[in-house]
Amino acid sequence: MADERLLEVHGLRKAFGDNVVWEEGNLDLAPGETHAVIGGSGTGKSVLLKCVLGLLDPDSGSIRYRDQELVGMAQGERARMTRDMGMLFQDAALFDSMTVGANVGFELEQMNLMPPKEIRERVTEVLGWVGLPGIEDRDPAQLSGGMRKRVGLARALASGPNLMLYDEPTTGLDPITSDVINELIIYLQEKTHTSGLVITHDMDSAYKIAGRISMLYQGRLVFTGTPEEIRTTDHPVVSQFVHGRAHGPITEGA
Ligand SMILES: Nc1ncnc2c1ncn2[C@@H]1O[C@H](COP(=O)(O)OP(=O)(O)OP(=O)(O)O)[C@@H](O)[C@H]1O
Ligand SMILES: [Mg+2]
Repeated sequence: MADERLLEVHGLRKAFGDNVVWEEGNLDLAPGETHAVIGGSGTGKSVLLKCVLGLLDPDSGSIRYRDQELVGMAQGERARMTRDMGMLFQDAALFDSMTVGANVGFELEQMNLMPPKEIRERVTEVLGWVGLPGIEDRDPAQLSGGMRKRVGLARALASGPNLMLYDEPTTGLDPITSDVINELIIYLQEKTHTSGLVITHDMDSAYKIAGRISMLYQGRLVFTGTPEEIRTTDHPVVSQFVHGRAHGPITEGA
């Protein structure tokens, strides 16, 4: 089916008290697509990923995954539906009481997905993918922010997710390491058909990895287009963000 959709978010509304973060969110993702969402700090990008994963409940709206409505679904069933999603949290969210290896293999072990020897091999493999081979025995607390982020990415990838939710995958990384992560996201898309919803402030990364880019502004995705379309649009808010303030927030009322 040409217009098949893996993920469809429609009319998403989410407020925290008086703070209306999502007024009306509409976004979709085709199987195998990488879709980037850009927008100023505090505009609701991480909230979107948390709503998709089921860590936050929208006030209203629809989130369909593989043609199933996730909003309002019983928790157990929802957890089963989202089991093949992987999430890289913005702050990596590692368990500091466990080694790096135990963090990366956590889900595989919890879910009994493979025998211990295979888990160890898989952990070694995905740590290699993120450019951190051989650090299984280190404590997360000993790592730099960028290394923690990459361990968080390895953990999210360990079980071979079908949909990856990446919250700022290149933030805090040097340009060369950022490019390793960009290449990894492209590799996953091309070789394993992994779909990606990517939150980023890094326009170079967005241009490189995404088929489409959407801009979140004042509770809505005000623009969706290809990298070329977003680069050349004269939409004032998008153009300001992309060209003038690619790494910072849009000023109030801009
Ligand atoms: N659990 C929560 N309870 C109350 N308010 C929240 C909660 N989570 C997020 N918010 C608020 O929602 C808004 C959007 O937050 P969010 O973390 O999605 O921003 P963001 O776009 O990811 O920003 P950044 O680029 O800085 O990561 C902020 O005003 C934030 O304070
Ligand atoms: Mg965020």
